[in-house]
Amino acid sequence: MTVAPALPDTATQDAGAPAPYETAAADDGRVPDAGWAERVRALARQRDAVILAHNYQLPAVQDVADHVGDSLALSRIAATASQSTIVFCGVHFMAETAKILSPDRTVLIPDARAGCSLADSLTAEQLRAWKAEHPGAVVVSYVNTTAAVKAETDICCTSSNAVEVVASMPADRTVLFGPDQFLGAHVRRVLRRDNVLVWGGECHVHAGINGDQLAATAAAHPDAELYVHPECGCATSALYLAGAGAVPADRVRILSTGDMVQAASRTRSRQVLVATEVGMIHQLRRAAPGVDFLPVNDRASCRYMKMITPRALERSLVELRDEVTVDPDTAARARRAVQRMIEVGTPGGAE
Ligand code: 13P
Ligand code: SF4
Repeated sequence: MTVAPALPDTATQDAGAPAPYETAAADDGRVPDAGWAERVRALARQRDAVILAHNYQLPAVQDVADHVGDSLALSRIAATASQSTIVFCGVHFMAETAKILSPDRTVLIPDARAGCSLADSLTAEQLRAWKAEHPGAVVVSYVNTTAAVKAETDICCTSSNAVEVVASMPADRTVLFGPDQFLGAHVRRVLRRDNVLVWGGECHVHAGINGDQLAATAAAHPDAELYVHPECGCATSALYLAGAGAVPADRVRILSTGDMVQAASRTRSRQVLVATEVGMIHQLRRAAPGVDFLPVNDRASCRYMKMITPRALERSLVELRDEVTVDPDTAARARRAVQRMIEVGTPGGAE
């Protein structure tokens, strides 16, 4: 597997993440007051706005949103929204993707500082240099990338359709897959394709969920199912544990966030171990209230997702900020890659 220069070591937890939501002070903007949800809904109606929230958002933000889902499902909803304004409660690349797909709509993100360490791990300049080393290769980029990287990309993918997107490329064609090394390794493993070259990027939150934590949690809960996001550093260990018989193979599922919600609503297990960002647990409990969902790492919190506080969402609707813009030429080039993505594979999950 070809890998770009090594990135700095990742911490086992996000040092910049806020203190756990459960211990948040009443005035820190994360705990809404009694009338907040009503005010936000009324403002959204006045502004002709649809509120979209990713599965990692704070519980109050998920509960007030019109749609909650994974990045693929939210992209699809953004592309067909009837409202004139989209308020994207997620991170910046997701709001940018909504703008690329809906250039005539106003797209707002409640806090424009909500970035993504994975998107930062591959720049357009680096991608151009990588393409120059492999003329004729097809570029598949995870949707966690900037608009400038998407503009250099042939087809985007998300965690819910990465395997199908790469499988749709001719078998003899070299694929440059970036930026996530763990998702890339998952695609290579499932498709048994050596001509998928993988960039060495990673998400600091998921890379911090490691195989040792997974093995210890699985050993402590031998009857539990395991849901693992493919961005996790432990995705390989989950498959290894299954292969070695430490965890029955039929209990290990490598899933996007939307697919986790769908699996939860169908599970017969009483306990499920969840290896992804902790915000996910809220949607899983809503989907299957009788099931005990336990995070493999309860400190795996994304500081960027958590910048979208209830206070920031209300301010966004009052002040119509922060508006997301994408240069029209870049957007036009990026749109081809994103549209090809939403035409391939399963729909992604959203309510
Ligand atoms: P999904 O595509 O599974 O929603 O994941 C997006 C993401 O940012 C994971 O960290
Ligand atoms: Fe990016 Fe990781 Fe946060 Fe997802 S969890 S938005 S990949 S930094």
